[in-house]
Amino acid sequence: MTDKEPKMNYLRRAWYVAGYADELASEQLLARTLLDEPLVFFRRPDGSIAALLDRCPHRFAPLSAGKICDNGASVQCGYHGLRFDGSGACVHSPHADGAIPKAAVVKAYSVLERHGLLWFWADDASEADESLIPDYSKLNGAAEDATVRGYLPTGCDYRLLVDNILDLTHVDYLHAGTLGSGAMTRAKAQVTDLGERGVRIAWLSSGDKAPAVFDNSLRQQGQPTDQWTEVTWTAPANMMLQVGATLAGESRQLGVDSLALHLATPESAGRTHYWYWSTRTFGIDPHANAAIKALLEFAFSQQDKPMLEAQQGRMGGAEFWSLKPVLLPGDAGAVRVRRRLDALIGAEGAER
Ligand code: FES
Ligand SMILES: [Fe+2]
Repeated sequence: MTDKEPKMNYLRRAWYVAGYADELASEQLLARTLLDEPLVFFRRPDGSIAALLDRCPHRFAPLSAGKICDNGASVQCGYHGLRFDGSGACVHSPHADGAIPKAAVVKAYSVLERHGLLWFWADDASEADESLIPDYSKLNGAAEDATVRGYLPTGCDYRLLVDNILDLTHVDYLHAGTLGSGAMTRAKAQVTDLGERGVRIAWLSSGDKAPAVFDNSLRQQGQPTDQWTEVTWTAPANMMLQVGATLAGESRQLGVDSLALHLATPESAGRTHYWYWSTRTFGIDPHANAAIKALLEFAFSQQDKPMLEAQQGRMGGAEFWSLKPVLLPGDAGAVRVRRRLDALIGAEGAER
């Protein structure tokens, strides 16, 4: 653990994405740091996921440098051979006739596999509340040729990435000519509360030509369209985005539509795991998929990521509100979410 660094205040009673479910094959150890905690993940023989603090309690070797044993039922430390099961209990010692020291216990976490993702509960495993995992099942049915998934480690505070997805007026500038058409800046955002842990932001516009990626797949190109963009934030930093366009006055079903996840999990104060998973109802073939994959990868890795990292650099570690950010109409939803997250974290702190 990073004991010497100041600890960030994270929302604890919440689910964070830890990765794609298919990143974790059986008989494999996966090391990943989430919320300042180095973790090691592995699949038990029944397919369920174990997550332990990636630090042996003997001399603090990373357990992820050891090996998986008993078909995934345990992990053996690579230094002196203590073996721990998925609950963190030491189940084997090659020393002292097999006597197991009382203190040989590793902290275990609750991790679930849901909708093709690994979900990490950042508080006591006994209090994990499955009902708080957002329903992303809709993406599971998408064709492989209409799916783009990726991962981008990004050198910024996770909330800058949340801002990025919740204030999509940036597409008109940062992604001008590809994802942006100018329509987002002109559309008025409607912000709706979805209980304590959710906010939806919708931008609707009429009359603009659709961005190229949509326009190419409409029945006629270069025509005025009706466009919709709806993003749903679920605490702490998980976002589902629906974006589409149809020829002006026509039903949504006649147009093109995409459904995507943008999932941010803090690795540490200035580092974020960013997973994106995009599906759509059009261009369902390998050639179109390769072109859209290239477009999205360029936008996210060559435009969003450098901007987020540059923002982080300019902020220099200062607290966001202390810099007195200018507020614009387009960031109403992002600001509401920041305040909501602050309130949720504050309420948890007050209870403890
Ligand atoms: S450090 Fe793990 S057994 Fe010694
Ligand atoms: Fe972007």
